[in-house]
Amino acid sequence: MTDTSELWCREPADPVELEVRVGPAPSPGDGEALVRVMATTVNPIDLRRAKGYGRRFLRLVGAGKYPQILGNDFAGVIAAVGANVRDLHSGDRVFGLVPTGKGGAHSSYVCVDARLIRCYDGAMTDEALATLPYCFTTVGQALRGAGITKSNAKGLQVLVHGASGGLGQLSLQLLNRWGALVTAVCSTPDAALCRELGAAAIWDRRRQKLDALPACFDAGLNFANWQDEEILLSRLRKGALGYATTVHPFLGNFDRFGLIRGGWRNYRDFARMRALAAEKTATYRWVIFRPQTEALDELQQLLAADAVKLTVGMTASFAEARRAFEHVANSGTGRVVLLP
Ligand SMILES: NC(=O)c1ccc[n+]([C@@H]2O[C@H](COP(=O)([O-])OP(=O)(O)OC[C@H]3O[C@@H](n4cnc5c(N)ncnc54)[C@H](OP(=O)(O)O)[C@@H]3O)[C@@H](O)[C@H]2O)c1
Repeated sequence: MTDTSELWCREPADPVELEVRVGPAPSPGDGEALVRVMATTVNPIDLRRAKGYGRRFLRLVGAGKYPQILGNDFAGVIAAVGANVRDLHSGDRVFGLVPTGKGGAHSSYVCVDARLIRCYDGAMTDEALATLPYCFTTVGQALRGAGITKSNAKGLQVLVHGASGGLGQLSLQLLNRWGALVTAVCSTPDAALCRELGAAAIWDRRRQKLDALPACFDAGLNFANWQDEEILLSRLRKGALGYATTVHPFLGNFDRFGLIRGGWRNYRDFARMRALAAEKTATYRWVIFRPQTEALDELQQLLAADAVKLTVGMTASFAEARRAFEHVANSGTGRVVLLP
C-alpha cells in the first residue's frame, strides 16, 4: 500500500498552525483518479482560510471544520484510475482542480473527479504548471462576469486593479491576446512586469490616486481591494459593459455577522455596488471560485500554444510549509508552490 503525506491546517491561527501527517493513500472511486501530486500552490485564500476566514459559510460545504487540508490546484501524475474513467491512464502527466470542500490538494496523493483533470505533455515544470488552474479558472469567471469574451474584447478599454498579482497577470495575458487595451493598476516595482505582459497603460497606485483615472473604461476588474470598489465603478464610462470583483466581502460578512445578518449585509453591499454599475448600464458580479471544466479545457489549449504562465516566487516542501504561507502573507513576489 502507498503512503500519502498530507499537510493539515490544525486550527484557525495566526501565524498558521500546520502539521504533516502520513497515512495510507486513498483509492479512487467511481469517476475519480488518484493523482500523485508533484506540486500544489498556496494561494491567498489558503492563507486566509488557515486563519479561519470563511469558516462560517464554508462549513455549509464541508470546508469550515478544522483540522483540514487546504489547496485547490495541482500538477502531478496519474497513479491509478477508478471505474468509468476512460481518458486518463496511469503515468499521464496532468494538472487540475480540487473543489473547496472536505479535502484539499495539499497532499502527496489526492483523489480527484476525473472531469477536473487535464493531461499536459509540454515543457513547463510541475511548479509552474501548478500555479495556473485555480487562478486561471477564477480569471475566466471574472472576465465573463464583466461581460468580456474572446469575441468582443478587441479594442475594449479595461481597467484591472491588482494587475501584478496572479489573477491580474493572467487577465493581462488573456486580454492582450484578445486585443483589449488594459490599464493596469499596480505598485511602482510591478509596472515593468505589467507592461511586459501587455498592459497598454500603467496606473501607479503608489503615486497616482485612483479617482484621478479618467471615467472612460468599458469594463473593470478588481483583484486588489474592496475598499476601492466604489471609486473603480465610478471610472466606468456611461454605456460600459460590466465589472467583476474577486475581493468582495461575501465570506467575511458571514464570519462577522453570522449567517442571517451576514446574508443581509451581503445583499446590501452587493445591491449598493450593483446600483452604481447600473448607473453606467454595466453588469456587476461578485466572483466566487468554482471548478469549471470549460476553464480547464481553455487552459489546456493555451498551454499547448505556450500562451499563459505565472512566475514561481518560491517553492517549499511540506515540512517548510510555514515559510511558504509567510511568503504569501508578506506579499512576496511570484506564486508559492509546495512540493509534497
Ligand atoms: N472570490 C474568489 O473566489 C477569489 C478567487 C481567487 C482569488 N481571490 C482573491 O482575489 C485577490 C487577488 O488574488 P491573487 O491571487 O491575484 O492575489 P495576489 O497575487 O496577492 O495579487 C494581488 C495584488 O493586488 C495588489 N494589492 C494588494 N493589496 C492591495 C491594496 N490594499 N490595495 C491595492 N492593491 C493591492 C498587489 O499588487 P500591487 O502592489 O502591484 O498593486 C498584489 O500583487 C486576492 O485577494 C484573493 O484572495 C478571490
